[in-house]
Amino acid sequence: MSKRKVKDSHLPVGECITEVQSILRERLCCNLHPDKPEEIEAQHKHLLELLKRTVIHGESNSVLIVAPRGAGKTMLLKCVLRDLLQEKEAEKSLLQVHLNGLLQTDDRIALKEITRQLHLENVVGDKVFGSFAENLAFLLEALKKGDRSSSRPVLFILDEFDLFAHHKNQTLLYNLFDVAQSAQAPIAVVGLTCRLDVLELLEKRVKSRFSHRQIHLLSTLTFCQYVQRVQTQLSLPENFPDKKFGQEWNKSITTLCKDASVEEVLRRHFNTSKDFRSMHALLMLCLSRVSVSKPVLKPADVLEASKLRFADAKGNMLHGLSILELCLIIAMKHLNDVYEDEPFNLQMVHNEFKKFLQRKSNSMYNFEQPVIMKAFEHLQQLELIRPVDSSTAKIQKEYQLMRLMLNHSQIMEALQKYPQCPTDVKQWAKSAFA
Ligand SMILES: Nc1ncnc2c1ncn2[C@@H]1O[C@H](COP(=O)(O)OP(=O)(O)OP(=O)(O)O)[C@@H](O)[C@H]1O
Ligand SMILES: [Mg+2]
Repeated sequence: MSKRKVKDSHLPVGECITEVQSILRERLCCNLHPDKPEEIEAQHKHLLELLKRTVIHGESNSVLIVAPRGAGKTMLLKCVLRDLLQEKEAEKSLLQVHLNGLLQTDDRIALKEITRQLHLENVVGDKVFGSFAENLAFLLEALKKGDRSSSRPVLFILDEFDLFAHHKNQTLLYNLFDVAQSAQAPIAVVGLTCRLDVLELLEKRVKSRFSHRQIHLLSTLTFCQYVQRVQTQLSLPENFPDKKFGQEWNKSITTLCKDASVEEVLRRHFNTSKDFRSMHALLMLCLSRVSVSKPVLKPADVLEASKLRFADAKGNMLHGLSILELCLIIAMKHLNDVYEDEPFNLQMVHNEFKKFLQRKSNSMYNFEQPVIMKAFEHLQQLELIRPVDSSTAKIQKEYQLMRLMLNHSQIMEALQKYPQCPTDVKQWAKSAFA
């Protein structure tokens, strides 16, 4: 937000819009962490208490934060860490190790990263360790204070926790949980995952060492609250430099959220995903339509933004196809209609296409078999069609069973927008039986 502290001043529209864009963009894009995370106060308190026990009393602990994508796991953890570091003890001695299952794809890489983040590369030097456990114990030993009476608390954060369960023998998880359980050193292991069944992935010996503490972030948001949230996210703060503009903007946002067409769009979004991430993405698209010449948000902007959000990538791919490829897709659609989504092969598609051609007198669509084959392969490359069983490499290509990866309405919608689609092809697509 701007540092300017002009109260009750009147700014030109251009400046107001720049200010609106910067305030709202920061809110929607920058992954800010709210001072008090709404709705998840209980989880926040729980995690904070748990980590405080490690930092202040040297108790080891392990916990999993389980929630769907974009529900706010990372946000919760960051808020808790921020509040934890307010403690003098934590600020002075807490060490953090951040690992991510997408980056540290095996335990050797993870161990290297742990050493790096603890700044122990020099201490380890060229030492060779017999086992992973030995190496980890050495690292934790190296963190002991001068008098060897106590170790510094270490917080291990494992983002995408479920991916660590695929590492060989789950060595890292086993050792971390083992240290946490046997109180060799004060460590807290916090795993973040979106897999509700994460415990099923753990080996027995790993599972038995885990504390079985889980923090769930399951949303109970109602549609009314969702609309309210949209309104809050789009509203300007009280201290907006141009007070009058700020008030008018907020009033227009209130009206906008009450509009029936906006409500319909929001309901569709609410039904697909209620999280902040997808809501922010939608609001960002709305915001990009605000300009000096149009300094308000209108229902049409929300509608357009929503269209972009729901734009169908596969449907759009159809616009880049040749007429022949499009015809093959239509033939497949007809086969799907007739045989109720049973798989098909190129020969069947070609026959279906021939039936269409027989009804025509001109020879514009008469293609040789190799050309059709090539078009079919292209559709497979684009993953618009997929082999039912990829292991049947010995079967001749023409007879390999395939499935269409598009549904009826995707094809019909894409055809409507296809540039210069021949009318007869369109009609063929519409006809119930070819
Ligand atoms: N209570 C909240 N208040 C404001 N913003 C929030 C809140 N919860 C989540 N967000 C926002 O939603 C977005 C997604 O949150 P976050 O990255 O924490 O999700 P996540 O659960 O870690 O997702 P992933 O599984 O993909 O890692 C972030 O931009 C975050 O700022
Ligand atoms: Mg995250």
